[in-house]
Amino acid sequence: MRTYHQIKDLRAHLRVSWQSGRVIGFVPTMGALHDGHRSLIRKARTECDEVVVSIFVNPTQFGPQEDYSKYPRTLEADSRMAQELGVDAMFAPPAEVMYPFGPDATVEVGPLTTHWEGACRPGHFRGVTTVCAKLFCIIQPRYAYFGMKDYQQYRVVERMVADLHMGLSVVPVPTVREADGLAMSSRNAYLSPEHRATATCLHQALNKAAALHSAGERDAAILREAMHARLSGERDVEIVYADVADAQTLEPVSAVTGPAVALGAIRLGSTRLIDNIVLP
Ligand code: PAJ
Repeated sequence: MRTYHQIKDLRAHLRVSWQSGRVIGFVPTMGALHDGHRSLIRKARTECDEVVVSIFVNPTQFGPQEDYSKYPRTLEADSRMAQELGVDAMFAPPAEVMYPFGPDATVEVGPLTTHWEGACRPGHFRGVTTVCAKLFCIIQPRYAYFGMKDYQQYRVVERMVADLHMGLSVVPVPTVREADGLAMSSRNAYLSPEHRATATCLHQALNKAAALHSAGERDAAILREAMHARLSGERDVEIVYADVADAQTLEPVSAVTGPAVALGAIRLGSTRLIDNIVLP
């Protein structure tokens, strides 16, 4: 596996694949790779001829008060994992390579970013869609793999790709969890042992909504209340949101009449955690 830091070097590597019609699968990440990322890379490896993984802690998707500077950076361990998984090329550009003009040209997806993470983190999705658009232009993959852990992100990127006719498919990959149900995340490393034990409450709250839903409950207010009830007793937990949205539009629903998703975000001390569960 080769690691590239410059666009022209990565492009020189990919030229053979582009010309010979080899299917390129792309897994964008911010590094600190864990089993969640591993699952995306494995899927790409089974479905594509050439697998490219990017490692880029994208400054434009972090708010001024967020954890950009302390976000874990573990390039050596990430390279080892990527190598073991049979990745062909890793792309780890410095910020000035990705943003030679600063954030001049940006990509924004409207309505899907109104609620949830979009409402709590102004500018976040603009940063995500802009960097993904740049990476898709550089790599020109046939498939790009996204985790359902970040459900809204997956839908927003999917919409950008469709609406801008980018000519690739966004492939969703199920959330990988720890044994106790906590969704794997690079940010879990921030949790103290006490908060790590508490953190499972988010998954449990979402599961409660899913259990009520599968028992036939369709009133979103009841599902929301059940999630809030599960979370509100927990020490140091601040509920950011726990609600039910339409699975396609991400609009809040009052009655669950079609495919929906229960989404939650909590603050646990200074760590922010998100999770979701699809209500089929
Ligand atoms: P990052 O948080 O590193 O995640 C990279 C990809 O891994 C995303 O598609 C995310 O949804 C997926 N992922 C993370 N945890 C997962 C889990 N437990 N199970 C399954 N998939 C999981 O998301 C980003 O980076 C960035 O926003 C990025 C898309 C790279 C743009 O900068």
